[in-house]
Amino acid sequence: MDKSQWQERIQLIEKALVQELKRKPALEPKLQEAMEYSLTAGGKRLRPILVMAAADAVGAKGTDFVQVACGIEMIHTYSLIHDDLPAMDNDDYRRGKLTNHKVFGEAMAILAGDALLTQAFEVMGRQQGVEPQVLLRVMQEMSIAAGPDGMVGGQVIDMLSEDKRISMEELRKLHMGKTGALFRAALRCGAILGGATEKQLADLTEYAECFGLAFQITDDILDVIGDEAEIGKPVGSDERNNKSTYVTLTSLEEAQALAAKTVDRAVNALSDMGEEAKFLRELVQYLINRKK
Ligand code: IPE
Ligand code: IPE
Ligand code: MG
Ligand code: MG
Ligand code: MG
Repeated sequence: MDKSQWQERIQLIEKALVQELKRKPALEPKLQEAMEYSLTAGGKRLRPILVMAAADAVGAKGTDFVQVACGIEMIHTYSLIHDDLPAMDNDDYRRGKLTNHKVFGEAMAILAGDALLTQAFEVMGRQQGVEPQVLLRVMQEMSIAAGPDGMVGGQVIDMLSEDKRISMEELRKLHMGKTGALFRAALRCGAILGGATEKQLADLTEYAECFGLAFQITDDILDVIGDEAEIGKPVGSDERNNKSTYVTLTSLEEAQALAAKTVDRAVNALSDMGEEAKFLRELVQYLINRKK
Protein backbone atom coordinates (compact mmCIF):
# COMPACT_ATOMS: atom_id res chain seq x y z
CA MET A 1 0.00 0.00 0.00
CA ASP A 2 1.50 3.34 -0.97
CA LYS A 3 0.70 6.72 0.60
CA SER A 4 -2.11 7.54 -1.82
CA GLN A 5 -3.75 4.15 -1.33
CA TRP A 6 -3.47 4.65 2.43
CA GLN A 7 -5.24 8.02 2.11
CA GLU A 8 -7.91 6.50 -0.12
CA ARG A 9 -8.59 3.86 2.50
CA ILE A 10 -8.90 6.44 5.24
CA GLN A 11 -11.47 8.24 3.09
CA LEU A 12 -13.32 4.98 2.48
CA ILE A 13 -13.44 4.28 6.24
CA GLU A 14 -14.53 7.82 7.12
CA LYS A 15 -17.28 7.79 4.51
CA ALA A 16 -18.54 4.45 5.80
CA LEU A 17 -18.51 5.72 9.40
CA VAL A 18 -20.70 8.67 8.47
CA GLN A 19 -23.03 6.38 6.54
CA GLU A 20 -23.42 4.18 9.59
CA LEU A 21 -24.52 7.18 11.65
CA LYS A 22 -26.95 8.23 8.92
CA ARG A 23 -28.65 4.84 9.08
CA LYS A 24 -30.33 6.03 12.25
CA PRO A 25 -32.20 9.21 11.34
CA ALA A 26 -34.60 8.87 14.28
CA LEU A 27 -31.88 9.10 16.93
CA GLU A 28 -32.19 11.69 19.64
CA PRO A 29 -30.41 14.65 17.95
CA LYS A 30 -28.10 15.38 20.90
CA LEU A 31 -26.90 11.78 21.02
CA GLN A 32 -26.44 11.72 17.26
CA GLU A 33 -24.43 14.95 17.46
CA ALA A 34 -22.24 13.69 20.30
CA MET A 35 -21.45 10.41 18.51
CA GLU A 36 -20.72 12.16 15.23
CA TYR A 37 -18.59 14.80 16.93
CA SER A 38 -15.98 12.31 18.13
CA LEU A 39 -16.26 9.87 15.26
CA THR A 40 -15.59 12.55 12.65
CA ALA A 41 -12.96 14.44 14.65
CA GLY A 42 -10.15 12.81 12.69
CA GLY A 43 -7.59 10.55 14.26
CA LYS A 44 -5.12 8.35 12.49
CA ARG A 45 -7.60 5.51 11.82
CA LEU A 46 -4.80 3.02 12.47
CA ARG A 47 -6.94 0.17 13.74
CA PRO A 48 -9.24 -0.03 10.69
CA ILE A 49 -6.21 0.40 8.42
CA LEU A 50 -4.60 -2.56 10.22
CA VAL A 51 -7.69 -4.74 9.74
CA MET A 52 -7.41 -4.14 6.00
CA ALA A 53 -3.62 -4.46 5.88
CA ALA A 54 -3.67 -7.82 7.66
CA ALA A 55 -6.21 -9.14 5.16
CA ASP A 56 -3.97 -7.89 2.32
CA ALA A 57 -0.98 -9.55 3.96
CA VAL A 58 -2.61 -12.97 3.73
CA GLY A 59 -3.57 -12.47 0.08
CA ALA A 60 -7.13 -11.15 0.43
CA LYS A 61 -8.52 -7.72 -0.47
CA GLY A 62 -8.49 -5.50 2.61
CA THR A 63 -11.15 -3.09 1.36
CA ASP A 64 -13.69 -5.93 1.34
CA PHE A 65 -13.82 -5.73 5.13
CA VAL A 66 -14.88 -2.15 5.68
CA GLN A 67 -17.73 -3.06 8.08
CA VAL A 68 -15.41 -4.78 10.54
CA ALA A 69 -12.90 -1.94 10.07
CA CYS A 70 -15.56 0.65 10.95
CA GLY A 71 -16.63 -1.38 13.97
CA ILE A 72 -13.20 -1.32 15.55
CA GLU A 73 -12.85 2.41 14.97
CA MET A 74 -16.17 2.92 16.77
CA ILE A 75 -14.93 0.85 19.73
CA HIS A 76 -11.68 2.83 19.78
CA THR A 77 -13.52 6.17 19.64
CA TYR A 78 -15.75 5.16 22.54
CA SER A 79 -12.65 4.23 24.56
CA LEU A 80 -11.19 7.69 23.95
CA ILE A 81 -14.38 9.49 25.00
CA HIS A 82 -14.47 7.58 28.28
CA ASP A 83 -10.69 7.82 28.81
CA ASP A 84 -10.96 11.63 28.74
CA LEU A 85 -13.78 11.88 31.30
CA PRO A 86 -13.12 13.74 34.58
CA ALA A 87 -13.33 10.44 36.49
CA MET A 88 -10.57 9.03 34.31
CA ASP A 89 -7.82 11.17 32.73
CA ASN A 90 -9.80 14.41 32.90
CA ASP A 91 -8.51 15.84 29.62
CA ASP A 92 -9.92 18.80 27.71
CA TYR A 93 -8.62 18.16 24.19
CA ARG A 94 -8.71 15.18 21.88
CA ARG A 95 -8.00 14.95 18.15
CA GLY A 96 -7.41 18.69 18.16
CA LYS A 97 -10.87 19.53 19.48
CA LEU A 98 -12.52 19.92 22.88
CA THR A 99 -13.23 16.53 24.43
CA ASN A 100 -16.73 15.12 24.12
CA HIS A 101 -17.76 15.85 27.71
CA LYS A 102 -16.52 19.44 27.43
CA VAL A 103 -18.99 20.03 24.61
CA PHE A 104 -21.92 17.77 25.46
CA GLY A 105 -21.57 17.27 29.22
CA GLU A 106 -20.52 14.17 31.13
CA ALA A 107 -23.80 12.27 30.95
CA MET A 108 -24.07 12.62 27.17
CA ALA A 109 -20.38 11.72 26.72
CA ILE A 110 -20.83 8.52 28.73
CA LEU A 111 -23.93 7.63 26.73
CA ALA A 112 -22.34 8.49 23.37
CA GLY A 113 -19.49 6.14 24.30
CA ASP A 114 -21.93 3.39 25.30
CA ALA A 115 -23.80 3.92 22.03
CA LEU A 116 -20.65 3.69 19.89
CA LEU A 117 -19.53 0.52 21.65
CA THR A 118 -22.81 -1.28 21.15
CA GLN A 119 -23.45 -0.01 17.63
CA ALA A 120 -19.97 -1.23 16.67
CA PHE A 121 -21.14 -4.82 16.99
CA GLU A 122 -24.25 -4.15 14.92
CA VAL A 123 -22.02 -2.62 12.22
CA MET A 124 -19.61 -5.57 12.24
CA GLY A 125 -22.54 -7.97 12.09
CA ARG A 126 -23.46 -6.50 8.72
CA GLN A 127 -20.11 -7.48 7.15
CA GLN A 128 -20.84 -9.20 3.84
CA GLY A 129 -18.87 -11.86 2.00
CA VAL A 130 -17.76 -14.00 4.95
CA GLU A 131 -19.04 -17.26 6.33
CA PRO A 132 -21.24 -16.73 9.43
CA GLN A 133 -18.93 -18.79 11.64
CA VAL A 134 -15.92 -16.71 10.54
CA LEU A 135 -17.75 -13.50 11.33
CA LEU A 136 -18.86 -14.90 14.67
CA ARG A 137 -15.23 -15.69 15.51
CA VAL A 138 -14.18 -12.17 14.53
CA MET A 139 -16.88 -10.57 16.66
CA GLN A 140 -15.93 -12.75 19.58
CA GLU A 141 -12.26 -11.73 19.22
CA MET A 142 -13.35 -8.09 19.12
CA SER A 143 -15.53 -8.35 22.21
CA ILE A 144 -12.84 -10.14 24.21
CA ALA A 145 -10.28 -7.51 23.14
CA ALA A 146 -12.54 -4.62 24.11
CA GLY A 147 -13.67 -6.10 27.41
CA PRO A 148 -12.36 -7.07 30.84
CA ASP A 149 -9.63 -9.35 29.44
CA GLY A 150 -8.48 -6.60 27.09
CA MET A 151 -8.88 -2.85 26.84
CA VAL A 152 -11.18 -2.36 29.85
CA GLY A 153 -8.95 -4.60 31.96
CA GLY A 154 -5.91 -2.52 30.97
CA GLN A 155 -7.70 0.71 31.77
CA VAL A 156 -8.54 -0.67 35.22
CA ILE A 157 -4.86 -1.46 35.90
CA ASP A 158 -4.02 2.04 34.61
CA MET A 159 -6.42 3.61 37.10
CA LEU A 160 -5.26 1.43 40.01
CA SER A 161 -1.62 2.24 39.19
CA GLU A 162 -1.99 5.99 39.63
CA ASP A 163 0.09 7.40 42.50
CA LYS A 164 2.20 4.28 42.90
CA ARG A 165 5.21 2.53 41.51
CA ILE A 166 4.37 -0.72 39.73
CA SER A 167 6.73 -3.35 38.35
CA MET A 168 7.82 -3.44 34.71
CA GLU A 169 5.87 -6.67 34.35
CA GLU A 170 2.67 -4.99 35.55
CA LEU A 171 3.30 -2.04 33.26
CA ARG A 172 3.63 -4.37 30.30
CA LYS A 173 0.33 -6.01 31.22
CA LEU A 174 -1.28 -2.58 31.52
CA HIS A 175 -0.08 -1.53 28.06
CA MET A 176 -0.92 -4.83 26.42
CA GLY A 177 -4.44 -4.45 27.76
CA LYS A 178 -5.39 -0.83 27.35
CA THR A 179 -3.74 -0.38 23.95
CA GLY A 180 -2.36 -3.71 22.77
CA ALA A 181 -5.63 -5.61 22.84
CA LEU A 182 -7.38 -3.58 20.14
CA PHE A 183 -4.32 -3.56 17.87
CA ARG A 184 -4.04 -7.30 18.32
CA ALA A 185 -7.72 -7.75 17.48
CA ALA A 186 -7.43 -5.49 14.43
CA LEU A 187 -4.62 -7.54 12.94
CA ARG A 188 -5.95 -10.94 13.95
CA CYS A 189 -9.46 -10.20 12.70
CA GLY A 190 -8.14 -8.87 9.39
CA ALA A 191 -6.08 -12.03 9.03
CA ILE A 192 -8.99 -14.32 9.96
CA LEU A 193 -11.32 -12.53 7.52
CA GLY A 194 -8.67 -12.88 4.82
CA GLY A 195 -8.41 -16.65 5.36
CA ALA A 196 -5.01 -16.77 7.09
CA THR A 197 -3.27 -20.08 7.77
CA GLU A 198 -2.45 -20.88 11.42
CA LYS A 199 1.18 -19.91 10.80
CA GLN A 200 0.24 -16.57 9.23
CA LEU A 201 -2.12 -15.86 12.11
CA ALA A 202 0.59 -16.65 14.66
CA ASP A 203 3.12 -14.40 12.88
CA LEU A 204 0.65 -11.54 12.62
CA THR A 205 -0.29 -11.95 16.28
CA GLU A 206 3.36 -11.66 17.30
CA TYR A 207 3.69 -8.59 15.07
CA ALA A 208 0.51 -7.12 16.59
CA GLU A 209 1.68 -7.56 20.17
CA CYS A 210 4.94 -5.78 19.40
CA PHE A 211 3.08 -3.08 17.46
CA GLY A 212 0.72 -2.40 20.37
CA LEU A 213 3.47 -2.25 22.93
CA ALA A 214 5.69 0.01 20.82
CA PHE A 215 2.68 2.20 20.05
CA GLN A 216 1.86 2.78 23.73
CA ILE A 217 5.52 3.36 24.64
CA THR A 218 5.64 6.12 22.02
CA ASP A 219 2.30 7.45 23.31
CA ASP A 220 3.93 7.74 26.76
CA ILE A 221 6.96 9.46 25.20
CA LEU A 222 4.76 11.91 23.26
CA ASP A 223 2.94 12.74 26.49
CA VAL A 224 6.28 14.18 27.66
CA ILE A 225 7.99 15.56 24.56
CA GLY A 226 5.15 15.84 22.05
CA ASP A 227 3.82 19.00 20.47
CA GLU A 228 0.28 19.63 21.69
CA ALA A 229 -0.86 21.18 18.42
CA GLU A 230 0.43 18.20 16.49
CA ILE A 231 -0.84 15.37 18.72
CA GLY A 232 -4.16 17.13 19.28
CA LYS A 233 -4.31 16.23 22.98
CA PRO A 234 -2.69 17.67 26.10
CA VAL A 235 0.98 17.03 26.83
CA GLY A 236 1.75 16.25 30.49
CA SER A 237 -1.53 14.44 31.16
CA ASP A 238 0.29 11.40 32.57
CA GLU A 239 2.40 13.47 34.96
CA ARG A 240 -0.64 15.43 36.15
CA ASN A 241 -2.42 12.14 36.91
CA ASN A 242 0.66 10.49 38.44
CA LYS A 243 0.46 7.65 35.93
CA SER A 244 2.79 4.70 35.62
CA THR A 245 4.35 4.87 32.16
CA TYR A 246 7.52 3.64 30.48
CA VAL A 247 8.96 7.12 30.83
CA THR A 248 8.24 7.40 34.55
CA LEU A 249 9.37 3.84 35.34
CA THR A 250 12.55 4.03 33.27
CA SER A 251 13.68 7.17 31.45
CA LEU A 252 13.02 8.89 28.17
CA GLU A 253 16.12 7.32 26.61
CA GLU A 254 15.34 3.83 27.87
CA ALA A 255 11.75 4.10 26.70
CA GLN A 256 12.93 5.17 23.25
CA ALA A 257 15.40 2.28 23.10
CA LEU A 258 12.74 -0.22 24.15
CA ALA A 259 10.34 1.11 21.52
CA ALA A 260 13.03 0.69 18.84
CA LYS A 261 13.80 -2.85 19.99
CA THR A 262 10.12 -3.77 20.00
CA VAL A 263 9.70 -2.41 16.47
CA ASP A 264 12.58 -4.64 15.30
CA ARG A 265 10.84 -7.62 16.88
CA ALA A 266 7.66 -6.74 15.00
CA VAL A 267 9.49 -6.65 11.67
CA ASN A 268 11.21 -9.97 12.42
CA ALA A 269 7.86 -11.59 13.18
CA LEU A 270 6.94 -11.16 9.52
CA SER A 271 10.15 -12.61 8.10
CA ASP A 272 8.32 -15.62 6.61
CA MET A 273 5.74 -13.44 4.89
CA GLY A 274 6.17 -12.09 1.40
CA GLU A 275 5.72 -8.87 -0.53
CA GLU A 276 2.07 -8.66 0.63
CA ALA A 277 3.30 -7.79 4.14
CA LYS A 278 5.49 -4.89 2.94
CA PHE A 279 3.06 -2.23 4.18
CA LEU A 280 3.00 -3.73 7.69
CA ARG A 281 6.81 -3.85 7.82
CA GLU A 282 6.99 -0.21 6.82
CA LEU A 283 4.11 0.95 9.01
CA VAL A 284 5.63 -0.25 12.27
CA GLN A 285 8.85 1.67 11.52
CA TYR A 286 6.90 4.89 11.60
CA LEU A 287 6.16 4.37 15.31
CA ILE A 288 9.69 5.28 16.30
CA ASN A 289 9.55 8.73 14.76
CA ARG A 290 5.89 9.50 14.94
CA LYS A 291 4.96 13.02 16.02
CA LYS A 292 1.24 12.34 16.53
C1 IPE B 1 -4.78 7.01 21.39
O1 IPE B 1 -4.83 6.22 20.22
C2 IPE B 1 -5.09 6.16 22.57
C3 IPE B 1 -4.11 5.09 22.79
C4 IPE B 1 -4.47 3.86 22.75
C5 IPE B 1 -2.74 5.44 23.09
P1 IPE B 1 -4.45 6.86 18.82
O2 IPE B 1 -3.14 7.60 18.95
O3 IPE B 1 -4.53 5.82 17.77
O4 IPE B 1 -5.61 7.94 18.63
P2 IPE B 1 -6.27 8.54 17.32
O5 IPE B 1 -7.31 7.56 16.90
O6 IPE B 1 -5.22 8.75 16.28
O7 IPE B 1 -6.89 9.82 17.80
C1 IPE C 1 -5.63 5.13 27.00
O1 IPE C 1 -4.27 5.42 27.13
C2 IPE C 1 -5.91 4.21 25.92
C3 IPE C 1 -7.37 4.02 25.76
C4 IPE C 1 -8.20 4.95 25.42
C5 IPE C 1 -7.91 2.71 25.96
P1 IPE C 1 -3.92 6.95 27.36
O2 IPE C 1 -4.76 7.55 28.41
O3 IPE C 1 -2.45 7.08 27.46
O4 IPE C 1 -4.40 7.55 25.95
P2 IPE C 1 -4.30 9.09 25.58
O5 IPE C 1 -2.86 9.50 25.76
O6 IPE C 1 -5.23 9.83 26.48
O7 IPE C 1 -4.70 9.13 24.13
MG1 MG D 1 -5.80 6.90 30.07
MG1 MG E 1 -5.74 9.50 28.36
MG1 MG F 1 -1.30 8.64 26.69
